[in-house]
Amino acid sequence: MKKLVLYIFFISIFFLVFHSLCWSSSHDFDENIPDNRKLLICEKMIRVLQKGNSENPCKNLSHYCRRPETVHINCEKALQGDKVNLIFTKEGIILLQSYINSIIGINRVPLIPNPSLNMSCSEIHKRIIPRHHMPSLNGIAFARTVHRDYEFIEKTVQMSWHPRNRFCFVMDEKAKEEFKKKMRKLVGCFEEQMILMEDLPFDSAGHNQNLAHYKCMEALLKHPKWSYLMLLQNHDIITKTVYELDQIFGILNGTNDVLAGKELEERRRDDQKWDPRSSNLFKNESNIPAKVLNEPLKIASGGIEASISRGAVEWLVETVNVTKFLEQQNEIDYGADEQFISTFQLNSQLGMPGHFTTECIDQNVQVAQITRMAQFAYSHPEKCASRTVRHNACLFGIEDLKAMTELPYLVWNKVYPSFDWSVIECTAELIYNRTFLGQTEPGLDQGYYENLITVNYHKNHLKPGFKLNCSSGSQPRSYEDYL
Ligand SMILES: *[C@@H]1O[C@H](CO)[C@@H](O)[C@H](O)[C@H]1NC(C)=O
Ligand SMILES: *[C@@H]1O[C@H](CO)[C@@H](O)[C@H](O)[C@H]1NC(C)=O
Ligand SMILES: *[C@@H]1O[C@H](CO)[C@@H](O)[C@H](O)[C@H]1NC(C)=O
Ligand SMILES: *[C@@H]1O[C@H](CO)[C@@H](O)[C@H](O)[C@H]1NC(C)=O
Ligand SMILES: *[C@@H]1O[C@H](CO)[C@@H](O)[C@H](O)[C@H]1NC(C)=O
Ligand SMILES: *[C@@H]1O[C@H](CO)[C@@H](O)[C@H](O)[C@H]1NC(C)=O
Ligand SMILES: *[C@@H]1O[C@H](CO)[C@@H](O)[C@H](O)[C@H]1NC(C)=O
Repeated sequence: MKKLVLYIFFISIFFLVFHSLCWSSSHDFDENIPDNRKLLICEKMIRVLQKGNSENPCKNLSHYCRRPETVHINCEKALQGDKVNLIFTKEGIILLQSYINSIIGINRVPLIPNPSLNMSCSEIHKRIIPRHHMPSLNGIAFARTVHRDYEFIEKTVQMSWHPRNRFCFVMDEKAKEEFKKKMRKLVGCFEEQMILMEDLPFDSAGHNQNLAHYKCMEALLKHPKWSYLMLLQNHDIITKTVYELDQIFGILNGTNDVLAGKELEERRRDDQKWDPRSSNLFKNESNIPAKVLNEPLKIASGGIEASISRGAVEWLVETVNVTKFLEQQNEIDYGADEQFISTFQLNSQLGMPGHFTTECIDQNVQVAQITRMAQFAYSHPEKCASRTVRHNACLFGIEDLKAMTELPYLVWNKVYPSFDWSVIECTAELIYNRTFLGQTEPGLDQGYYENLITVNYHKNHLKPGFKLNCSSGSQPRSYEDYL
């Protein structure tokens, strides 16, 4: 009888937990996730909660703290990246499913948003500010446009936290009120480090993204002591520690890193003029040669994510007035955000600090960018390790952890918390270990950044007799090597 009561007691506890964890918050699951997968995820989380605190990594304050969804993931094993394991025996070779295959597909872990996340400043501080001492660095500023997934945004701040760093956000006007409330709360808890600009209307065609970043530039310049600004979007994940970023920006030494290719012809409109004079570009034209003022800019299409030096930001805000340029760009139907920094970067005659030149695109050579990795797959999901494409680009998953760690890119676009939280959690844990626990493998390939063609150009282009060789310089290992 006693046993039965106990049994009923446990069963009811189980259902209570199950209900509160899974059903009542089922609207927080991505609606694309089928019910049987939701069940699996819930069962795993319940098992973690049932174990109580005994294995809870959050108990040891010097460890990285995982969410219940991902406690069962072995990041170290995932980092080895094997697709299959070969075992050699007397009978021959046996093929075993790799570890990664056991945490994808139906077992892939999405984030389940916490509807009762404690948003008091003291709790937010606890989640973001590390309990470890952080040696000084040259500060880094981040300007990020956001529209959803608050817990992911908070995670990105935790991953790049340093008291010297600055974070500027611009929200989409159409974002959910719940998201906006949380963002305001977050920023309000870090008056020194964070700025929230006025909301703007964003869309998938890129409208107002540049304006948002520009507003952040203006605001960030009021903060001293940062050396580089990274321009980011909602689902970008930074894969280097703040100390690695600091080291890389030290090597860049003023060079901007921007993806800049030939203008995509379908974006050209005949009614727009791009010479600096008609777009009132220079605030003071008196020292600018007439040739520079009258010659149309060579428009370059690229990407929005970029790392630009403080000098370049000062120039964009103080020397020129980009209002008209941005207004005209914003009239373009699609990809309205992909010609701003790239155009200023390549038009060397304008003299933006850290600029490059059009020479290489004129020779049809695409120069490597280190800031953003994006893999465009269109209708070919086999080009993605996760076999999943959104907005023409691969969604990165736990299969990509090894590539994300080893390749030289600073930012990967894109990861979705509702698709795969384990890749985000493992990247964050790795960054934590490399920042605080002295973990050094794999090392940073300094030589790669030192030999970038843009760095070489920046260092030498004013020297007499300098000749740029567009085919020289570092080329990253290919993402395909990791497929
Ligand atoms: C926490 O982890 C560190 C490093 O792994 C270890 O040295 C320490 O003993 C742990 N502390 C507790 C209370 O478990
Ligand atoms: C949030 O945390 C704070 C302090 O850490 C606590 O005082 C408060 O009661 C918590 N709020 C909720 C709703 O649990
Ligand atoms: C970095 O740039 C400054 C000039 O801006 C130069 O004086 C210095 O030598 C450069 N450092 C390196 C390591 O190239
Ligand atoms: C414009 O630049 C010239 C030359 O540098 C300077 O003499 C002049 O005062 C500047 N005008 C304004 C309005 O700042
Ligand atoms: C910048 O240009 C815009 C439009 O051309 C103009 O309305 C604005 O006053 C200018 N701002 C400054 C600070 O010069
Ligand atoms: C991070 O360090 C902890 C403690 O040493 C270790 O258990 C964990 O596997 C490490 N994570 C990664 C991704 O290397
Ligand atoms: C440019 O660099 C490449 C790669 O280092 C080299 O093979 C080529 O000979 C160089 N071209 C010239 C004109 O120096």
